[in-house]
Amino acid sequence: MAIHIDETNQVFHLQTDHTSYVFQVLAHGVLGQLYYGKQIHVRPSYANLARRELKNSMPAYDLTEPDFQLDAIKQEYAATGTGDFRRPAYQVTQADGSRLTDFRYDHYEVVQGKQRLTGLPSTFDDTDDGAETLIVHLTDDLTQLDLELNYTVFPHQDVIVRSANFKNHGVTSVTLNAALSAQVDLPDDRYDLVQFSGSWSRERHMIRTPLRSGIQLIDSVRGSSSPQQNPFMMLARPDTTEDAGGVFGFNLVYSGNFLDQVEVDQYATSRVLVGINPADFGWHLRPGATFQTPECVLSYTTDGFNQLSQQLADFYAQHLVNANFAKRERPILVNNWEATYFDFDDQKLLGIAKKAKDLGIEMFVLDDGWFGHRDDDHTSLGDWVTDPHKLPKGIGHFADQVHDLGLQFGLWFEPEMLSLDSQMYRTHPEWLLHTPQRRATPGRNQFVLDFSRQIVVDNLFEQMSKVIDETHLDYIKWDMNRYMTEVFSTGLPVDQQLEVSHRYILGVYQLYERLTSRYPDVLFESCASGGGRFDLGMMYYAPQAWTSDDTDAIERLKIQLGTSYGYPQSMMGAHVSAVPNEQTGRITSLATRANVAYFGAFGYELDITKMPEEEAEIVKEQVAFYKQHRSLYQFGKLYRIDSLFEGDGNVMSWMVVDDKQDHAIACRYQLLSRPNAPYLRQYFKGLDPDKQYRINGGDATYYGDELMNAGLFLTKVFDETAAVKQLADFSSQRFVIDAVE
Ligand code: GLA
Repeated sequence: MAIHIDETNQVFHLQTDHTSYVFQVLAHGVLGQLYYGKQIHVRPSYANLARRELKNSMPAYDLTEPDFQLDAIKQEYAATGTGDFRRPAYQVTQADGSRLTDFRYDHYEVVQGKQRLTGLPSTFDDTDDGAETLIVHLTDDLTQLDLELNYTVFPHQDVIVRSANFKNHGVTSVTLNAALSAQVDLPDDRYDLVQFSGSWSRERHMIRTPLRSGIQLIDSVRGSSSPQQNPFMMLARPDTTEDAGGVFGFNLVYSGNFLDQVEVDQYATSRVLVGINPADFGWHLRPGATFQTPECVLSYTTDGFNQLSQQLADFYAQHLVNANFAKRERPILVNNWEATYFDFDDQKLLGIAKKAKDLGIEMFVLDDGWFGHRDDDHTSLGDWVTDPHKLPKGIGHFADQVHDLGLQFGLWFEPEMLSLDSQMYRTHPEWLLHTPQRRATPGRNQFVLDFSRQIVVDNLFEQMSKVIDETHLDYIKWDMNRYMTEVFSTGLPVDQQLEVSHRYILGVYQLYERLTSRYPDVLFESCASGGGRFDLGMMYYAPQAWTSDDTDAIERLKIQLGTSYGYPQSMMGAHVSAVPNEQTGRITSLATRANVAYFGAFGYELDITKMPEEEAEIVKEQVAFYKQHRSLYQFGKLYRIDSLFEGDGNVMSWMVVDDKQDHAIACRYQLLSRPNAPYLRQYFKGLDPDKQYRINGGDATYYGDELMNAGLFLTKVFDETAAVKQLADFSSQRFVIDAVE
């Protein structure tokens, strides 16, 4: 049993295998938060945790209980305006202009398992993994609003999923100005905030800073989760490392404007808020209507960052990713984008596909430029019909030719966008997301479709279905290449304009839902100018995401390393591209490029027809090697060892280990080579201390305990024949570790 309820004291204790989450109904039906952290015993009362003391100069709830002061109480889902001056979890504007509510505890229910949400991506428990859901009902008598706080406990992954649901039982409409998914009030502020920030081509670099008094927030108002800030955030004790120490993880199952906020108050308590960004948000809740927030994933461990990442990866594989793909090995692909950009015809593409087949690659992906008359990025978005100049016999015929080669076929779409030079815009100018009588701001020479309109979603569903049917498509790369501006829908009334950003994302989800239901075997890879929409909302529909437009191996190390804290490696699209690299001009070896890209959903993105024969031979070997170890790379337990975000940032290493601890692959990457450098040892993790292992098929064997604690001495000799080589700048050393029979 995961949910323990003490009816007398109205205490709710949610227990996972290693954590406890405790809250209680306090006076006046206010929900107070007592504890979240390492598992503690179930007891009838936690009076110790609920204790309060009279704080000077603070408002009290009423005259009879001067020490019941909302600003000093740790709460579950706090309101504003009645004595708690910290930022609230929600706010409701009513017909008379009042923003006050008084939600009081009413009753609870417990249900086995976990239902999916309708219209939003969500977690689930299809495999009877022991999930239990607690629904706590609160009501506000004056407005007749009901508030449901949902908690699902996933005991074995140490995850609790929270969301809130508002229902209007009253006779007048209200507006939700804020409706966050989860609030956690931690009793102290001795945490580092760990965030994953960057920009286009520099996504998800890890930043770790101590909490301080006041509000620190990470958010997006760009209409997508964004490359600038990622919704995954951690709070770690200052001494937490990869392998030890307390750390909370928070993430939102959502792809639009989000907010992750921590507020350290005057008593050094830390209020965490996660949900849809209240900035530029408002939801008109009519009588009888409900509003469901996205879900927030909460997880905790005392065993450091590696453990947190591993339990989250396990959780997503079992309870978030489309079960069809969660554990299915992903095809090795070649993508023509960096090989040809817009400049191709069917012969050129077929040349790449044929070469790919020779090299053992499994899928050919045709990227941007196959539709309308798209010879550059000014045109044709919205018109998903073959460009006859490039593919004279149509996309269906081209797909047949690729399939006939024995390759899978994938195609690029950017369904949410519109070019002014398009049949769609000429026919339906009103489908453009714009504010009447104002200019519309272009981004990458294109505009955004109003996905809050059902007719737009229907149109894209029809157009895309037609292409999928015609091509028997195996894979779709769903791109989204700009931020949203002039967020206004001419299809919605005045009082609903603050709903547009959220409705837009709901439209995107609906299209994903319909396509993935009709075509369950099509693998989706999400993309937003690279990793601009790398989030759990996307992960629900698209098990893969293009991690970054930056394919430089060295830049990719930081991007993939940062990403790995909150997302499994199977989600990270990672390709070998040409050198000098298009984004950085850097030259790295083919071996290093592959050693970086192996730790993800692997592929190539360069003109393989122009490769010298010696390189083609190397690629053939790389493809064969990856096939042999693909399952380990994509689904093995990932351990970060040396980090580029720490120390002098010159070395990174990490490894994947299989469930039985029989096979592992580690890789060490060196940025710059140094003369007369200190001795080098490579330490490993996650091995069985009592098993003996061989490295790279060598004769020597080592116990796991030795490899993990004493490490492996690395020679600095530039010896090409050594089993373990250490080379120059941008070098990588791979260690294939196999238990001895
Ligand atoms: C975005 C993607 C790229 C490529 C181009 C095509 O930038 O991230 O991978 O698909 O669009 O226009």
